[in-house]
Amino acid sequence: MTSTSIKAVRARRVWDSRGRPTVEAEVELAGGARGRAIAPAGASRGTREATDLRDGGTRFGGLDVLGACENVRSRIANALRGLDALDQAAIDAAIVALDGTPNKAKLGGNATVAVSMAVAHAAAAARGVPLWRHLAGNAPASLPLPEVQIFGGGAHAGRRVDVQDFMVMPVGAWTFGDAIAIVAEVYRVAGAIMQESGKLAGVADEGGWWPAFASNEEALTTLVRAIEGAGLRPGEDVAISLDIAASEFGRDGRYRLALDGNELDRDAMAAMLLDWIARYPIVSIEDPFAEDDRVAWIRFGEAVANRIQIVGDDYLTTDAGEVDRAALDHACNAVLVKPNQAGTLTEARAALDAGRRHGFGTIVSARSGESEDVTVAHLAVGWNAGQLKVGSFARSERMAKWNEVLRIEESLGADAVFAGAGALPIRRPVKINGKPGV
Ligand code: PGA
Ligand code: ZN
Repeated sequence: MTSTSIKAVRARRVWDSRGRPTVEAEVELAGGARGRAIAPAGASRGTREATDLRDGGTRFGGLDVLGACENVRSRIANALRGLDALDQAAIDAAIVALDGTPNKAKLGGNATVAVSMAVAHAAAAARGVPLWRHLAGNAPASLPLPEVQIFGGGAHAGRRVDVQDFMVMPVGAWTFGDAIAIVAEVYRVAGAIMQESGKLAGVADEGGWWPAFASNEEALTTLVRAIEGAGLRPGEDVAISLDIAASEFGRDGRYRLALDGNELDRDAMAAMLLDWIARYPIVSIEDPFAEDDRVAWIRFGEAVANRIQIVGDDYLTTDAGEVDRAALDHACNAVLVKPNQAGTLTEARAALDAGRRHGFGTIVSARSGESEDVTVAHLAVGWNAGQLKVGSFARSERMAKWNEVLRIEESLGADAVFAGAGALPIRRPVKINGKPGV
């Protein structure tokens, strides 16, 4: 027994940003240090990701988590008591062994991720350092390029538009603080445009403006107008990034775009995306095809050939083995890292490390169901991920994360390194005096 040995593991039911029950875990160490973390929850989930344990029945629409909380207090607490919180890998291995299923079905991914993150917080507290510093150890850390939703769609907006996230990346920024200030202007101007055109109808699940558009493409044209309206240059100061979340509307190689009244086969879907890439300043596309449409991913990866970032979310489900396979296939060149898709920090870190080995972009990501928990902000910095995605630029469960990175940046002072556009796994065409350069 040392001061960093786990003494107690507790759980309580708290509530997420959609007003649904979720698990908060609290870990206490022998020396008195404590750590706490809240499990997030997705709405457009990959089929292979860790599953949340929900009680079922009628209470809160079957979404209650009393069983998951009980698993934390009993089985997980018993397995972890006495283990050293500084050894995150051993803790997470104990959790994985105790669960014994490929997707945390027994204990619940919501139970395991909350505990895994709470252990890291407790270890950092015991060492008297911020979580990001604890995670970085002696390795370099950097402030991430933010990927920020301006319009929310898909499963986060009653499928009002088919594409899930219309986002911006402030690729011209030189510091994280500048990057966030640029996003604030684009978000504000986008809202003003919606208001002027009589389309302001509140916000979607992650805080992006509700997408009252006549077509998926109208969101793109509006986004370009918002960037220009903020006095910024599309593509140079601010680029566009999309999460198609195509598993939500694609099946057996066919894609039903309800808003556009189209059903596309995989080639027509690819042609539409390539056309958008040619006409809009898009630097990144996530889940362009359904998670089971491997052939479409491989063909698209070949056609795009690292001109843009292609991100696997549902396609990779934060799984190191899937990242390795996708790298061999050239299906994508970036991995979205969602700790609760894996179920433990160590497994999420392994997916990120696999991505890094293959030269992938690595993006730490929150979920559509979030809370005041800011662990992902620390993971992005401490793991030197280079990119961070936490939803839009409104609602405090989103702003808490951006604001936490601002605090970290300030604490680093002159030592702060901003990953910026260099975090994208692409060669951006450089313009010299307005002309294409090398
Ligand atoms: P989710 O979606 O958190 O609702 O699953 C987010 C995403 O697809 O990136
Ligand atoms: Zn996604």
